[in-house]
Amino acid sequence: MTEVFRDGLLTGKTAFVAGGSSGINLGVAQRLAEAGAKVAIISRSADKVAAAVASITDAGGTAWGTACDVRDYAAVDAALAATVERFGPIDVVVSGAAGNFLAPVVGMSANAFKTVIDIDLLGTFNVLRASFAHLAKPGASLISITAPQGERPQMFQAHACAAKAGINMMTKCLAMEWGPAGVRVNAVSPGPIGDTEGMARLAPTPEMEKTIKGRIALRGYGTKRDIADMVLFLASPAAGYVTGAIIDCDGGSVLGDAGGDALTVRAR
Ligand code: HXC
Ligand code: NAP
Repeated sequence: MTEVFRDGLLTGKTAFVAGGSSGINLGVAQRLAEAGAKVAIISRSADKVAAAVASITDAGGTAWGTACDVRDYAAVDAALAATVERFGPIDVVVSGAAGNFLAPVVGMSANAFKTVIDIDLLGTFNVLRASFAHLAKPGASLISITAPQGERPQMFQAHACAAKAGINMMTKCLAMEWGPAGVRVNAVSPGPIGDTEGMARLAPTPEMEKTIKGRIALRGYGTKRDIADMVLFLASPAAGYVTGAIIDCDGGSVLGDAGGDALTVRAR
């Protein structure tokens, strides 16, 4: 997919990536910078933010960042304002901060459930809601990072499933409210992505990893680049008539268990 994007697709544009200091979202921030955008990164850890910014500037890109917890609306608003001051009105917002752990509901305190809802769902509300006043309108593109679990239930993931389902619906509501202002609002739903904190937590053993890979239609984990390219597409004019969409970039994960190899062989 990468080849269809020419260098400089986002030259002169400003991007803001919440939760962009590691994993999938860092890959997104790096990809947007590679396409020419000036990129702002926020997450809680100042050290992680500094390393993420350095990974972009060392490669010749333009980036800046600040420590910020997406659960704190005023802090998010201040980070957005600082971004505009430095780089100009914001063209692309990515909301990807998340927290997760495997826990059955009876092993989950009310505060444990609330913590994931607050980071993922309220945090995404804060980032998107606060961004509106700082956007380059018309033309801005807002992209949240959701998950197949927002549509498909999973054991021991009640908190994350509920949060991601909320993000999906909020994406559609905001697309309706902000479309008339020329603001597109979409979400990308990554399937299991290799070499991430998320999969280290959700499939901590080689056996679990093998089982999950065997159930995905395309057989295997995706890469951070897969997600970064999809976000770049939504950020770009190529997606100029796309809003309110939850785009699956998941190898078919959301379709369900495609592990019926024995049946497949018999059907041939
Ligand atoms: C049960 C747990 C728990 C666990 C924490 N808690 N871990 N309960 N099982 N394994 C409980 C705590 O006991 C506490 O409740 C409450 O959760 C808040 O914990 P804190 O540590 O105080 O919260 P905080 O410091 O805000 O940290 C948030 C965190 C942490 C989510 C708990 O793991 C974190 O910072 N995660 C960020 C990185 C991350 O998770 N990346 C992966 C994203 S992957 P009590 O009642 O004791 O006060 C992802 C995959 C998507 O999202 C695919 C599926 C949707
Ligand atoms: P990750 O590396 O842990 O990324 C999470 C990021 O969010 C980190 O940069 C973290 O940095 C930041 N963050 C966490 N809590 C925050 C808060 N309260 N305020 C601000 N920033 C916060 O995990 P990942 O696996 O790459 O996941 C990235 C995104 O993809 C998440 O939205 C996740 O739900 C989604 N996703 C992942 C997978 C997968 O296979 N990994 C699959 C589907 C969806 P700090 O610690 O510095 O705050």
